[in-house]
Amino acid sequence: MHTTIDGLRVAYTDQGQGLPPLLFVHGFPLSREAWRSQVEAFAPAHRVVAPDLRGLGESEASEGPTSMARFAEDLAILLQQLGTGPVVLVGHSMGGYVALAFQDRHPELLSGLVLVGTRAGSDGPEAAAKRRATAARVRSEGTASVIEDMAPRMLAAGAADGDRLGQVRALMQSARAAGVEGALLGMAERPDATPRLGRIWLPTLVITGAEDTLIPPSESEALARSIPGADLEIIPDAGHLVAFEQAEAFNDRLAAWLGRLTAPSPAG
Ligand code: MLT
Repeated sequence: MHTTIDGLRVAYTDQGQGLPPLLFVHGFPLSREAWRSQVEAFAPAHRVVAPDLRGLGESEASEGPTSMARFAEDLAILLQQLGTGPVVLVGHSMGGYVALAFQDRHPELLSGLVLVGTRAGSDGPEAAAKRRATAARVRSEGTASVIEDMAPRMLAAGAADGDRLGQVRALMQSARAAGVEGALLGMAERPDATPRLGRIWLPTLVITGAEDTLIPPSESEALARSIPGADLEIIPDAGHLVAFEQAEAFNDRLAAWLGRLTAPSPAG
């Protein structure tokens, strides 16, 4: 499906019925296709919405940096257009940066937060400079080198065989150069969300792959420790793209957590 947000054509999936609605937000430079197994698994019991962030997947790109706040505003507009009411937002990696920006700006639109393979901190000067250099390269040469660099690092070491790697590359193939450049510049300038983690009172689940080398599990452990009452799940034999790589284990943990979230609290 498609809609128009801020003058851009934005692609999204909207399937199923049932509360709470789930909003799945993909990472960089991926697309909503990364959540295919989750859409299949959860749409029988929930309304499941999964957009392509601007400039990625099938969504149109804008010029210049795309801040995490801008991505978050796009999501808020989409939810308003769809009339979902409050959602559980599941954000992977850059989608987690967006989730934290969304939580800051629109807590009333959330009933829970699931932070997958992500972190709250901002880029240090070196990491930010590297992202800006990559953005400049994407502008002059296109997205191929970013895809070649990122795809193998999405999977657990040793799991990046031909088939799996091909599938991960396919999730990145449709990204526009301007979209990749905008997201890189946006990530480079994102603020540090760490100081406000202690004030997040939403039910929160943090999930990581045990073998994530892009954002190591220690980051997820720190995130879970800093958010009051947050749960942590570490999934074995999974790298950065844990929901894709170990979809069944990921879906089981998420379903169990959602079950606890919606279970009536014991009387007395
Ligand atoms: C992602 O998967 O979204 C990226 O690895 C995030 C990042 O580069 O910080």
